[in-house]
Amino acid sequence: MEHLVVTGGGPLEGSVRISGSKNGALPLLAATLLSDGRCTLTNVPNLTDIGNLCELLSEVGVSVDRLGPHAISTRVTSEANSVARYELVSRMRASIYLLGPLVAKRGFARVSLPGGCVIGLRPVDLHLKGLRALGAEIELDHGYIVAKAPKGRLQGNRVFLGGPMGSSVGATCNVLMAAVLADGKSVIEGAACEPEVVELANFLNAMGATIEGIGTPRLVITGVPSLGGARQRVIPDRIEAGTYAIAAGMTGGDVRLEDVRLDHLGAVVDTLEKVGFEFSEPEEDVVRVRCPGPLQPVRTTTLTYPGYPTDLQSPLIAMLTKADGISVVSEKIYPDRFMHLAELQRMGADVMKEGSSAVIRGVERLKGTDVDATDLRAGAALVLAGLVAEGTTRLHKVYHVDRGYEDFEAKLTGLGANIHREIVSASYKRAA
Ligand code: UD1
Repeated sequence: MEHLVVTGGGPLEGSVRISGSKNGALPLLAATLLSDGRCTLTNVPNLTDIGNLCELLSEVGVSVDRLGPHAISTRVTSEANSVARYELVSRMRASIYLLGPLVAKRGFARVSLPGGCVIGLRPVDLHLKGLRALGAEIELDHGYIVAKAPKGRLQGNRVFLGGPMGSSVGATCNVLMAAVLADGKSVIEGAACEPEVVELANFLNAMGATIEGIGTPRLVITGVPSLGGARQRVIPDRIEAGTYAIAAGMTGGDVRLEDVRLDHLGAVVDTLEKVGFEFSEPEEDVVRVRCPGPLQPVRTTTLTYPGYPTDLQSPLIAMLTKADGISVVSEKIYPDRFMHLAELQRMGADVMKEGSSAVIRGVERLKGTDVDATDLRAGAALVLAGLVAEGTTRLHKVYHVDRGYEDFEAKLTGLGANIHREIVSASYKRAA
């Protein structure tokens, strides 16, 4: 069992290189299933989620070669197995990304339903709706999604993918990957506009697909019979960049973020500027972040892109526990994504949940204690709280953080944080 042990202390200072985007790399890897050639991805973050998807791809016949810590080359060598097993899918919800490419390319897919997760119900109805619109025959069989394309090919069609919470990143990626090999023209209305979707569309076009309207809610796809190889550099991780920006400002630090796309962080910069942060103009993709004055309270809401991202909700709340007044953060994407509030309370934060909002009254001091990483982003948020808490914070369930933050403690140590990983054999259990 591993813990992260953080001792609160001074400001973070120095430079940190932002890794490639986890959420950007995952659909690109899945898209390589569609290709008849060799695909190469660079700037791929070295994370457990990436390793898990690579394992899944290997099982369905992709030869995955690591060209280095951050470069992966793939080639499909067998189309005999199109089954994504529960044991692998259950490690990571993004495994659902195999469904669209498999049914479009091979005419058949059997992918385990990913199930719920700690941030609340995460349905896949929009994924299925989109694939059905393209002619896939889909049934649920003992916890598996079984999808078949009649006569082996999907048919282009019009589909609206907006859901009750707005557009879906995952459904847009899945249906887009299926539509590029469908016969005829498809139109996806209500498409997600996140940078990760844009990068997927660019990658597919580089493989020979014809997608128009990239970056807009209306994607127009003209199906092609086959796709070739392509090479792409994964975009910098905007969520990781936002996490280090928040860490810099909340510790009163001064940090240079290297390889950052500030144009992907509009709502984050806007919100943090209201808190009192200062961001320099990017120079060769390097941005300086600091917060010279006291942290000001804010009111914000998580939304689909270009709104404030839900994945930076918990780090923002961790920071606002030390702001000079009362903040309100509303969650519009995952209304139940507030497990971290109870952990922050254990550290002395004055936070409460009201419906799908958190009300945060800034306190003078947080106090280090044992806390659980309830999910990936919550884990990072609790480490940030630990950086400004008195004494030592011990973060449990670190595997959540390892899914999405490359070299987390090494990068923080490089900025002057007092953090290390502790490997313990003693069993630890908190009541469920
Ligand atoms: C992706 C990100 C995740 C991020 C989320 C929202 C990846 C691997 N993960 O997740 O980090 O928090 O976007 O920005 O990229 N929904 C439905 N039906 C569906 C699909 C989604 O109702 O079939 C709802 C969800 O419950 C949620 C909203 O739509 O309320 C957005 O979810 P979605 O964009 O699909 O999230 P993911 O792609 O799973």
